[in-house]
Amino acid sequence: MQVVKTKQELLGLLPNSGSIGLVMTMGALHAGHRRLVDAAVEQCDTVVVSIYVNPLQFAPNEDFDKYPRQLEKDLELLQDVDIVFAPSDEEMYPREPLVRVDPGEVATRFEGETRPTHFAGVLQVVLKVLNLVRPHRAYFGQKDAQQLALIRTMVADLDVRTEIVAVPIVRDEDGLALSSRNTYLTGEDRAVALGLVGALTAARDAAASGATPAEAEKILFDTLSANDAVNVDYATIVNPDTFQPVSSNEKQGLAVVAARVGTTRLIDNMEVSFG
Ligand code: PAJ
Repeated sequence: MQVVKTKQELLGLLPNSGSIGLVMTMGALHAGHRRLVDAAVEQCDTVVVSIYVNPLQFAPNEDFDKYPRQLEKDLELLQDVDIVFAPSDEEMYPREPLVRVDPGEVATRFEGETRPTHFAGVLQVVLKVLNLVRPHRAYFGQKDAQQLALIRTMVADLDVRTEIVAVPIVRDEDGLALSSRNTYLTGEDRAVALGLVGALTAARDAAASGATPAEAEKILFDTLSANDAVNVDYATIVNPDTFQPVSSNEKQGLAVVAARVGTTRLIDNMEVSFG
């Protein structure tokens, strides 16, 4: 494993032959990130992991300063990776970028409603690192389903020559989706946070036993908001590719939820099939 902090060092290490796999992260690595790395190691000759807490995707009131940073510990989890790219802010953005990626309308809804500049910041850094590494495949988690959908859209619309590979959500034994932000949860919050996966499961089961999208969505919302300690941002069922509402004749949907538990904002999602 080689750890590099500059773009020039990164470019110098990239091989000319064989397939390159890229996993982008903000560090504070857990088994969810590791699953992405496992897939890349399995499928690619050279694996690059980026670790960078991208300031552009945090609004001023968000947790950019508080976000966990633990490079040494992260590197222990990446021993079988070829290259780790961990740039500074100055390296990544030597000046304020003038040309910006516009993520379009989908980015104004769901996560984008409470975080209006978030996805523009995500796509800006993802495109930059895709352009630097030019990987054959880049791995992203289904955990951040809207992010994944927007990255797929960007890659299609801008003809980025990378295959985007989606990796299923990795959960703890109790069902909580792994997230670097789970470290903010107190023991009590954690129990409350399980309400997210509980509500998603209830909606999925209802859909499988014949509930319509509208009925399943009501179950999703009602189950999640039953606990006063869960502050619901949204709880709805969408088309997984477009994030538009599912219509009554669609057979597949993605149940998506976001809620605050204590001071921590959590997101989760689950595929539902209407049977
Ligand atoms: P981060 O939150 O560190 O996540 C990095 C990648 O790991 C994302 O693709 C995310 O979906 C995936 N991931 C996180 N938790 C997961 C879980 N429990 N199961 C499966 N995959 C999981 O997402 C970002 O960073 C940033 O927005 C980034 C894409 C790096 C751009 O800055």
